[in-house]
Amino acid sequence: MWSSAGKGQFPGIIDLYGSIGGLCEHRASLLAGHGFAVLALAYFQFEDLPENLSDVRLEYFEEALALMLRHPQVKGPNIGLIGVSKGADLCLSMAAFLKDNITATVLINACVANTLVPLYYKDLFVPELGCDQTKNKSGLMDLRDMWNNPLEEPNHQSLIPLEKAQGPFLFLVGMDDHNWKSDVYARIACERLQAHGKDRPQIIYYPETGHCIEPPYFPPPIATVHFVLGEAVFNGGKPRAQSRAQLDAWQRIQTFFQKYLNGEKPARHSKL
Ligand SMILES: *[C@@H]1O[C@H](CO)[C@@H](O)[C@H](O)[C@H]1NC(C)=O
Ligand SMILES: *[C@@H]1O[C@H](CO)[C@@H](O)[C@H](O)[C@H]1NC(C)=O
Repeated sequence: MWSSAGKGQFPGIIDLYGSIGGLCEHRASLLAGHGFAVLALAYFQFEDLPENLSDVRLEYFEEALALMLRHPQVKGPNIGLIGVSKGADLCLSMAAFLKDNITATVLINACVANTLVPLYYKDLFVPELGCDQTKNKSGLMDLRDMWNNPLEEPNHQSLIPLEKAQGPFLFLVGMDDHNWKSDVYARIACERLQAHGKDRPQIIYYPETGHCIEPPYFPPPIATVHFVLGEAVFNGGKPRAQSRAQLDAWQRIQTFFQKYLNGEKPARHSKL
């Protein structure tokens, strides 16, 4: 848990990373420097958590939400979510199934379906979207074309009913994402929300940008070891464009959370 210096209460955010596993705190600590109370939440491969991800139980995330809402440094009654990759589809599931008290969700290269492992919550079961391993090319794994189409039968059972969420959503999309089709998924999310009479989400498309849109000045990794698939996976992106995207995304993330969690216009000062 990271929080801004000083007394008082700050808008609360839960921060989820993806299939790299473990506890990733750098984004949470940097966001805390901008007036938020941020919980970096590990969900596998950390301390007493399972070494491998075999399924996800949403009750664990519900507990984290409750913990945030009763934390003395968190300004309730609502909190925000930010997630990248598998962490982003978990944010969508949290927003859709836990819904109360989640009022701002930032999705960095999200899939609109539940990915990698099955999701359970009470008596609800959401299967994972599969991928076709025979489409694996040689060398670094390029997953982009391997995932099944979430809009086709029977894959649509993996779709997350994001229209049930309170919203709003901010989708940040790398147009050169090689982990999956984040651009296509963001459009599907937009169409689905509108078909249910909900507001359009805010979607920012970044050209020549890959899967891992990190805070400013973090070198974008060419590949990351995917602990669920046990392989190095190609992320895509060109360094110059990706660096620009990271600067822009960082401002947009803060503006979005300030607006929907704090009802304020943020001051633009330091770049980090
Ligand atoms: C959740 O939101 C509701 C409605 O705004 C509010 O009444 C309640 O106090 C919130 N819960 C917590 C734990 O802050
Ligand atoms: C994908 O291809 C690489 C390189 O040919 C191979 O080493 C790896 O085992 C394959 N992975 C899967 C999950 O099939």
